[in-house]
Amino acid sequence: MRIGVLTGGGDCPGLNAVIRAVVRKGVKEYGYEFVGFRDGWRGPLEGLTMPLDLAATRGILPKGGTILGSSRTNPFKIENGVERIKENLAKMNIDALIAIGGEDTLGVATKLDSLGVKVVGVPKTIDNDLNNTDYTFGFDTSVNIAVEAIDRLHTTAESHHRALIVEVMGRHAGWIALHAGIAGGAACILIPEIKFSLDQVCKWVESRFESSYAPIIVIAEGAIPQDGDMITKDQTLDSFGHVKLSGIGEWLASAIEERTGKEARTSVLGHIQRGGSPTAFDRVLATRFGLSAITAVHEGDFGKMVALHGTNIDRVPLASATEKLKLVDPALYAEAEIFFG
Ligand code: F6P
Repeated sequence: MRIGVLTGGGDCPGLNAVIRAVVRKGVKEYGYEFVGFRDGWRGPLEGLTMPLDLAATRGILPKGGTILGSSRTNPFKIENGVERIKENLAKMNIDALIAIGGEDTLGVATKLDSLGVKVVGVPKTIDNDLNNTDYTFGFDTSVNIAVEAIDRLHTTAESHHRALIVEVMGRHAGWIALHAGIAGGAACILIPEIKFSLDQVCKWVESRFESSYAPIIVIAEGAIPQDGDMITKDQTLDSFGHVKLSGIGEWLASAIEERTGKEARTSVLGHIQRGGSPTAFDRVLATRFGLSAITAVHEGDFGKMVALHGTNIDRVPLASATEKLKLVDPALYAEAEIFFG
Protein backbone atom coordinates (compact mmCIF):
# COMPACT_ATOMS: atom_id res chain seq x y z
CA MET A 1 0.00 0.00 0.00
CA ARG A 2 1.23 3.56 -0.81
CA ILE A 3 0.05 6.33 1.45
CA GLY A 4 0.32 10.07 0.94
CA VAL A 5 0.80 12.34 3.95
CA LEU A 6 0.23 16.11 4.03
CA THR A 7 0.16 18.95 6.57
CA GLY A 8 -2.06 21.96 5.83
CA GLY A 9 -3.01 25.34 7.31
CA GLY A 10 -1.09 27.24 9.99
CA ASP A 11 1.79 25.08 11.23
CA CYS A 12 1.99 24.02 14.86
CA PRO A 13 4.43 22.20 17.14
CA GLY A 14 3.93 18.42 16.97
CA LEU A 15 3.31 18.03 13.21
CA ASN A 16 6.63 16.23 12.78
CA ALA A 17 5.85 13.92 15.70
CA VAL A 18 2.66 12.79 13.88
CA ILE A 19 4.53 12.25 10.59
CA ARG A 20 7.22 10.22 12.38
CA ALA A 21 4.68 7.98 14.16
CA VAL A 22 2.66 7.38 10.97
CA VAL A 23 5.76 6.37 9.00
CA ARG A 24 7.43 4.38 11.79
CA LYS A 25 4.39 2.17 12.42
CA GLY A 26 3.36 2.04 8.77
CA VAL A 27 6.77 0.79 7.63
CA LYS A 28 7.64 -1.44 10.58
CA GLU A 29 4.28 -3.08 11.23
CA TYR A 30 2.51 -2.98 7.89
CA GLY A 31 5.33 -2.72 5.33
CA TYR A 32 3.70 0.35 3.69
CA GLU A 33 5.37 2.92 1.44
CA PHE A 34 4.85 6.64 1.95
CA VAL A 35 4.88 9.72 -0.24
CA GLY A 36 5.25 13.13 1.40
CA PHE A 37 3.06 15.76 -0.23
CA ARG A 38 4.55 19.25 -0.03
CA ASP A 39 2.71 22.32 1.29
CA GLY A 40 -0.74 21.06 2.22
CA TRP A 41 -3.30 20.50 -0.54
CA ARG A 42 -0.94 22.18 -3.04
CA GLY A 43 1.10 18.91 -2.97
CA PRO A 44 -1.50 16.52 -4.40
CA LEU A 45 -2.92 19.33 -6.55
CA GLU A 46 0.38 20.05 -8.31
CA GLY A 47 2.06 16.68 -7.78
CA LEU A 48 4.71 18.14 -5.44
CA THR A 49 6.25 15.33 -3.40
CA MET A 50 9.24 14.41 -1.27
CA PRO A 51 10.56 11.07 -0.05
CA LEU A 52 9.05 9.95 3.24
CA ASP A 53 10.69 6.91 4.79
CA LEU A 54 12.38 5.91 8.05
CA ALA A 55 15.51 7.91 7.18
CA ALA A 56 13.54 11.07 6.35
CA THR A 57 11.72 10.93 9.68
CA ARG A 58 14.71 10.27 11.96
CA GLY A 59 15.38 12.99 14.54
CA ILE A 60 12.29 15.07 13.79
CA LEU A 61 10.28 14.37 17.00
CA PRO A 62 11.39 17.54 18.86
CA LYS A 63 11.43 19.80 15.81
CA GLY A 64 8.83 22.52 15.36
CA GLY A 65 7.19 23.27 12.00
CA THR A 66 6.66 20.53 9.44
CA ILE A 67 9.20 18.79 7.24
CA LEU A 68 6.48 18.61 4.56
CA GLY A 69 5.79 22.35 4.47
CA SER A 70 2.30 23.84 4.69
CA SER A 71 -0.03 26.20 2.86
CA ARG A 72 -3.61 27.40 2.94
CA THR A 73 -4.34 26.09 -0.58
CA ASN A 74 -8.02 25.31 -1.11
CA PRO A 75 -8.49 22.90 -4.05
CA PHE A 76 -12.22 23.70 -4.12
CA LYS A 77 -11.34 27.30 -5.07
CA ILE A 78 -9.16 26.19 -7.99
CA GLU A 79 -10.54 25.21 -11.39
CA ASN A 80 -10.66 21.40 -11.72
CA GLY A 81 -8.89 21.21 -8.34
CA VAL A 82 -10.55 17.99 -7.23
CA GLU A 83 -10.08 16.27 -10.62
CA ARG A 84 -6.39 17.23 -10.60
CA ILE A 85 -5.93 15.77 -7.11
CA LYS A 86 -7.68 12.54 -8.11
CA GLU A 87 -5.58 12.25 -11.29
CA ASN A 88 -2.32 12.84 -9.43
CA LEU A 89 -3.18 10.30 -6.74
CA ALA A 90 -3.99 7.71 -9.41
CA LYS A 91 -0.80 8.51 -11.40
CA MET A 92 1.33 8.05 -8.28
CA ASN A 93 -0.53 4.90 -7.20
CA ILE A 94 -1.54 6.46 -3.90
CA ASP A 95 -4.09 4.25 -2.14
CA ALA A 96 -4.95 6.57 0.75
CA LEU A 97 -4.17 9.97 2.27
CA ILE A 98 -3.46 11.07 5.82
CA ALA A 99 -4.30 14.79 6.14
CA ILE A 100 -3.02 16.57 9.24
CA GLY A 101 -4.73 19.91 9.72
CA GLY A 102 -7.32 22.16 11.30
CA GLU A 103 -10.83 23.19 10.27
CA ASP A 104 -9.87 24.23 6.71
CA THR A 105 -7.61 21.28 5.83
CA LEU A 106 -10.01 18.78 7.38
CA GLY A 107 -12.97 20.54 5.76
CA VAL A 108 -11.34 19.80 2.39
CA ALA A 109 -10.63 16.22 3.53
CA THR A 110 -14.31 15.77 4.45
CA LYS A 111 -15.45 16.89 1.00
CA LEU A 112 -12.84 14.74 -0.77
CA ASP A 113 -13.96 11.73 1.28
CA SER A 114 -17.52 12.23 0.03
CA LEU A 115 -16.10 12.32 -3.52
CA GLY A 116 -14.42 8.95 -3.13
CA VAL A 117 -10.88 9.84 -1.95
CA LYS A 118 -9.73 7.53 0.86
CA VAL A 119 -8.63 9.84 3.65
CA VAL A 120 -8.00 9.82 7.41
CA GLY A 121 -7.66 13.11 9.31
CA VAL A 122 -5.47 14.14 12.24
CA PRO A 123 -6.56 17.23 14.23
CA LYS A 124 -3.99 20.00 14.68
CA THR A 125 -4.26 23.63 15.68
CA ILE A 126 -2.80 25.78 18.40
CA ASP A 127 -6.30 27.30 18.69
CA ASN A 128 -7.79 24.03 20.08
CA ASP A 129 -11.09 24.87 18.38
CA LEU A 130 -11.73 21.66 16.42
CA ASN A 131 -14.93 19.92 17.39
CA ASN A 132 -15.17 16.35 18.72
CA THR A 133 -11.69 16.12 20.22
CA ASP A 134 -10.84 17.23 23.76
CA TYR A 135 -7.51 18.69 22.63
CA THR A 136 -5.53 19.27 19.47
CA PHE A 137 -1.75 19.02 19.61
CA GLY A 138 0.09 22.35 19.43
CA PHE A 139 -2.27 23.98 21.91
CA ASP A 140 -0.32 22.97 25.01
CA THR A 141 2.95 24.28 23.54
CA SER A 142 1.42 27.58 22.57
CA VAL A 143 -0.17 28.04 26.02
CA ASN A 144 3.20 27.37 27.65
CA ILE A 145 4.91 29.92 25.41
CA ALA A 146 2.25 32.50 26.31
CA VAL A 147 2.57 31.74 30.05
CA GLU A 148 6.33 32.22 29.92
CA ALA A 149 5.76 35.58 28.21
CA ILE A 150 3.17 36.60 30.85
CA ASP A 151 5.56 35.68 33.70
CA ARG A 152 8.22 37.91 32.13
CA LEU A 153 5.77 40.75 31.51
CA HIS A 154 4.64 40.70 35.17
CA THR A 155 8.06 41.75 36.44
CA THR A 156 8.59 44.57 33.95
CA ALA A 157 4.99 45.79 34.34
CA GLU A 158 5.47 46.04 38.11
CA SER A 159 8.80 47.88 37.80
CA HIS A 160 7.20 50.53 35.59
CA HIS A 161 3.71 50.63 37.14
CA ARG A 162 2.18 49.95 33.74
CA ALA A 163 -0.66 47.85 32.44
CA LEU A 164 0.61 45.30 29.96
CA ILE A 165 -1.65 43.77 27.37
CA VAL A 166 -0.69 40.41 25.87
CA GLU A 167 -2.38 39.70 22.54
CA VAL A 168 -2.47 35.99 21.77
CA MET A 169 -3.83 34.00 18.81
CA GLY A 170 -7.41 32.81 18.73
CA ARG A 171 -9.56 33.93 15.85
CA HIS A 172 -12.96 32.61 16.95
CA ALA A 173 -12.10 30.70 20.11
CA GLY A 174 -10.35 31.99 23.22
CA TRP A 175 -8.76 28.76 24.44
CA ILE A 176 -5.17 30.03 24.38
CA ALA A 177 -6.13 33.29 26.11
CA LEU A 178 -8.19 31.46 28.74
CA HIS A 179 -5.58 28.86 29.65
CA ALA A 180 -2.59 31.23 29.46
CA GLY A 181 -4.51 33.89 31.41
CA ILE A 182 -5.48 31.50 34.20
CA ALA A 183 -1.98 30.00 34.41
CA GLY A 184 -0.33 33.43 34.21
CA GLY A 185 -2.55 35.13 36.82
CA ALA A 186 -4.01 37.73 34.46
CA ALA A 187 -6.00 40.71 35.77
CA CYS A 188 -8.52 39.89 33.07
CA ILE A 189 -8.92 37.65 30.05
CA LEU A 190 -10.80 38.74 26.94
CA ILE A 191 -11.99 36.14 24.44
CA PRO A 192 -13.91 36.23 21.11
CA GLU A 193 -16.86 34.30 22.53
CA ILE A 194 -17.86 37.03 25.00
CA LYS A 195 -17.91 40.71 23.95
CA PHE A 196 -16.11 42.77 26.58
CA SER A 197 -17.11 45.99 28.33
CA LEU A 198 -14.34 48.60 28.24
CA ASP A 199 -15.71 50.14 31.46
CA GLN A 200 -15.41 46.82 33.25
CA VAL A 201 -11.88 46.21 31.92
CA CYS A 202 -10.82 49.67 33.19
CA LYS A 203 -12.30 48.88 36.62
CA TRP A 204 -10.29 45.66 36.79
CA VAL A 205 -7.14 47.53 35.72
CA GLU A 206 -7.66 50.17 38.41
CA SER A 207 -8.38 47.65 41.12
CA ARG A 208 -5.19 45.76 40.29
CA PHE A 209 -3.20 49.00 40.52
CA GLU A 210 -4.89 49.77 43.87
CA SER A 211 -3.44 46.57 45.30
CA SER A 212 0.02 47.86 44.20
CA TYR A 213 0.26 45.25 41.52
CA ALA A 214 0.54 45.94 37.78
CA PRO A 215 -2.25 44.42 35.69
CA ILE A 216 -1.62 41.98 32.86
CA ILE A 217 -4.51 41.65 30.42
CA VAL A 218 -4.60 38.66 28.12
CA ILE A 219 -6.63 39.27 24.99
CA ALA A 220 -7.32 36.94 22.06
CA GLU A 221 -6.78 38.50 18.62
CA GLY A 222 -10.45 37.90 17.80
CA ALA A 223 -11.87 39.57 20.96
CA ILE A 224 -14.53 42.21 20.32
CA PRO A 225 -15.54 45.23 22.45
CA GLN A 226 -19.26 45.57 23.25
CA ASP A 227 -19.44 48.85 21.33
CA GLY A 228 -17.18 47.96 18.43
CA ASP A 229 -16.11 45.47 15.80
CA MET A 230 -13.39 42.88 15.36
CA ILE A 231 -10.10 44.62 14.50
CA THR A 232 -8.36 43.28 11.40
CA LYS A 233 -4.88 43.94 10.00
CA ASP A 234 -6.19 44.58 6.48
CA GLN A 235 -9.09 43.51 4.32
CA THR A 236 -7.38 40.72 2.36
CA LEU A 237 -8.89 37.23 2.59
CA ASP A 238 -7.08 33.89 2.30
CA SER A 239 -8.46 31.08 0.12
CA PHE A 240 -10.69 29.92 2.98
CA GLY A 241 -12.13 33.42 3.42
CA HIS A 242 -10.26 34.39 6.62
CA VAL A 243 -9.14 37.96 7.30
CA LYS A 244 -5.77 38.66 8.95
CA LEU A 245 -6.26 39.59 12.60
CA SER A 246 -4.17 41.56 15.14
CA GLY A 247 -4.54 45.10 16.41
CA ILE A 248 -7.06 44.67 19.23
CA GLY A 249 -4.23 44.76 21.83
CA GLU A 250 -3.01 48.17 20.61
CA TRP A 251 -6.58 49.44 20.49
CA LEU A 252 -7.17 48.34 24.07
CA ALA A 253 -3.92 49.90 25.35
CA SER A 254 -4.90 53.33 23.97
CA ALA A 255 -8.44 53.03 25.32
CA ILE A 256 -7.14 52.11 28.81
CA GLU A 257 -4.63 55.01 28.79
CA GLU A 258 -7.31 57.44 27.74
CA ARG A 259 -9.80 56.32 30.37
CA THR A 260 -7.58 55.56 33.39
CA GLY A 261 -4.60 57.87 32.81
CA LYS A 262 -2.33 54.87 33.48
CA GLU A 263 0.34 53.89 30.99
CA ALA A 264 -0.56 50.77 28.99
CA ARG A 265 1.56 48.86 26.47
CA THR A 266 0.93 45.86 24.26
CA SER A 267 2.97 42.78 23.38
CA VAL A 268 1.69 40.79 20.42
CA LEU A 269 2.97 37.21 20.62
CA GLY A 270 1.95 36.35 17.05
CA HIS A 271 3.76 33.48 15.36
CA ILE A 272 6.14 33.00 18.31
CA GLN A 273 3.25 30.92 19.71
CA ARG A 274 3.45 28.54 16.74
CA GLY A 275 7.21 28.08 16.45
CA GLY A 276 9.79 25.89 18.10
CA SER A 277 9.83 22.60 19.90
CA PRO A 278 6.60 20.91 21.11
CA THR A 279 6.04 20.27 24.84
CA ALA A 280 6.18 16.69 26.10
CA PHE A 281 2.34 16.66 26.25
CA ASP A 282 2.09 17.63 22.57
CA ARG A 283 4.79 15.13 21.53
CA VAL A 284 2.90 12.29 23.23
CA LEU A 285 -0.52 13.38 21.89
CA ALA A 286 0.82 13.86 18.34
CA THR A 287 2.57 10.47 18.48
CA ARG A 288 -0.59 8.71 19.66
CA PHE A 289 -2.65 10.46 16.94
CA GLY A 290 -0.14 9.34 14.29
CA LEU A 291 -0.18 5.71 15.47
CA SER A 292 -3.97 5.68 15.51
CA ALA A 293 -4.23 7.29 12.05
CA ILE A 294 -2.08 4.67 10.35
CA THR A 295 -4.02 1.91 12.13
CA ALA A 296 -7.25 3.43 10.77
CA VAL A 297 -5.77 3.32 7.24
CA HIS A 298 -4.70 -0.30 7.76
CA GLU A 299 -8.21 -1.21 8.87
CA GLY A 300 -9.77 0.62 5.92
CA ASP A 301 -11.61 2.97 8.29
CA PHE A 302 -11.66 6.02 5.98
CA GLY A 303 -13.58 9.27 6.36
CA LYS A 304 -12.53 9.37 10.01
CA MET A 305 -10.51 11.70 12.21
CA VAL A 306 -8.52 10.47 15.19
CA ALA A 307 -9.61 12.27 18.37
CA LEU A 308 -8.77 12.52 22.06
CA HIS A 309 -11.61 11.75 24.46
CA GLY A 310 -10.42 11.66 28.06
CA THR A 311 -7.26 9.60 27.76
CA ASN A 312 -8.49 7.48 24.83
CA ILE A 313 -7.69 8.01 21.17
CA ASP A 314 -10.95 7.34 19.30
CA ARG A 315 -12.03 7.68 15.67
CA VAL A 316 -14.87 10.05 14.83
CA PRO A 317 -16.50 10.96 11.48
CA LEU A 318 -14.37 13.59 9.71
CA ALA A 319 -17.47 15.72 9.16
CA SER A 320 -18.09 15.97 12.91
CA ALA A 321 -14.74 17.71 13.42
CA THR A 322 -15.66 20.67 11.27
CA GLU A 323 -19.46 20.91 11.53
CA LYS A 324 -19.03 23.58 14.22
CA LEU A 325 -16.19 25.18 16.15
CA LYS A 326 -15.43 24.11 19.70
CA LEU A 327 -15.81 27.38 21.59
CA VAL A 328 -15.05 28.25 25.22
CA ASP A 329 -17.96 27.33 27.49
CA PRO A 330 -19.19 30.42 29.42
CA ALA A 331 -19.09 28.33 32.62
CA LEU A 332 -15.34 27.82 32.20
CA TYR A 333 -14.89 31.54 31.61
CA ALA A 334 -16.86 32.25 34.78
CA GLU A 335 -14.36 30.13 36.75
CA ALA A 336 -11.55 32.39 35.54
CA GLU A 337 -13.51 35.58 36.27
CA ILE A 338 -13.14 35.04 40.04
CA PHE A 339 -9.52 36.13 39.63
CA PHE A 340 -10.15 39.28 37.56
CA GLY A 341 -9.36 42.69 38.95
O1 F6P B 1 -5.39 28.86 12.71
C1 F6P B 1 -4.33 29.01 13.56
C2 F6P B 1 -3.84 30.42 13.61
O2 F6P B 1 -2.67 30.39 14.36
C3 F6P B 1 -4.85 31.45 14.14
O3 F6P B 1 -4.90 31.53 15.53
C4 F6P B 1 -4.35 32.72 13.52
O4 F6P B 1 -5.38 33.68 13.39
C5 F6P B 1 -3.90 32.27 12.18
O5 F6P B 1 -3.53 30.92 12.31
C6 F6P B 1 -2.74 33.08 11.64
O6 F6P B 1 -2.36 32.53 10.44
P1 F6P B 1 -1.19 33.01 9.47
O7 F6P B 1 -0.06 32.05 9.65
O8 F6P B 1 -1.75 32.90 8.12
O9 F6P B 1 -0.78 34.38 9.90
